[in-house]
Amino acid sequence: MKIGIIGAGAVGSIIAREFHKLPADKVELTLMAKSARDGFTILEQGVKTFHEIKVHKVSQVTDKFDVLFIATKTPALTALKDTINSITHKDSEIIYALNGMGYDSIFDQGIPGVVYISGQQHDDYIEHYVNQKIILPERQFIYTDKLIELIDNTESVNFELLKSSEFNKMRYEKLLINVGINSMTALSKNTSKIFEDEKTVQLTKRLLTESVAVVNLCNKDKVEIDEGFVDYAMNMYYSYPRDMGTSMYYDVMANKTTEFKYIQQYVHSMKQGYDVDTPVLDIVVTLLAAYEKN
Ligand SMILES: NC(=O)c1ccc[n+]([C@@H]2O[C@H](COP(=O)([O-])OP(=O)(O)OC[C@H]3O[C@@H](n4cnc5c(N)ncnc54)[C@H](OP(=O)(O)O)[C@@H]3O)[C@@H](O)[C@H]2O)c1
Repeated sequence: MKIGIIGAGAVGSIIAREFHKLPADKVELTLMAKSARDGFTILEQGVKTFHEIKVHKVSQVTDKFDVLFIATKTPALTALKDTINSITHKDSEIIYALNGMGYDSIFDQGIPGVVYISGQQHDDYIEHYVNQKIILPERQFIYTDKLIELIDNTESVNFELLKSSEFNKMRYEKLLINVGINSMTALSKNTSKIFEDEKTVQLTKRLLTESVAVVNLCNKDKVEIDEGFVDYAMNMYYSYPRDMGTSMYYDVMANKTTEFKYIQQYVHSMKQGYDVDTPVLDIVVTLLAAYEKN
């Protein structure tokens, strides 16, 4: 089985490090990114390790993959469309190892994933904080089911690739978690320490409450987010190290395009045709859209 991973950053490198341990007679693994290199370094629990897993320049790859993980950031999806079509076949399973929602239909063979891998790409190494897990919808897959079986049967592989009947709910919850903290850290240009400020806490709660209301009223997946979700999300934010940023915070600090289109804008666009008042979400979306203007 041919497995491809596009993206050798925080998420892609952790998937590659673990899948590289799968039996070579059963899995042929190819890691790809914008540029080629001989491997990557992961910093974990204070220790830096270089992993000699070749990173190929995606535009030079000609293989056709049975399972392809997309672990870039969402702004790369459009640019990669033709390339991905050329390295997949009609039965390929394309797993979106991405945050956000609203891009599922870009590839007919696309499978959404909820990614629990927490890390950050630095200039010359990747810092891995916690988790190595991706949740998929509860469906039958030709290749991915075999991959799951292989992972489960290979003791050295420390990765959870799971299917869950609660997938849709998990996905909306992850989206909402991102709407809350990513918006506040990106717009304040500050890390999780912002939650030491009571006014910021109140504003984040309002943003989350409005976003939960939109999801509950407007989602077509019959998902109902529980009443206690806002407190759950806030407690999660409080538990983060005060100097930890978010992916959107790091993007803004580096003046890069963010994943806003498939996170905040996606939630905002859900309410079209519905009567729901979201003053804080409206401002957040307006400011993030303004940031994206070039
Ligand atoms: N980091 C986290 O903690 C975390 C947690 C959950 C979910 N996520 C989500 O997972 C996704 C990946 O995030 P990440 O943190 O792993 O990103 P990242 O560290 O910034 O890595 C992105 C990777 O994508 C590659 N890439 C970007 N544009 C490309 C293109 N046009 N062609 C080929 N490769 C391209 C980059 O290649 P080069 O290295 O060559 O530049 C890089 O290796 C995002 O949707 C993110 O929101 C991240």
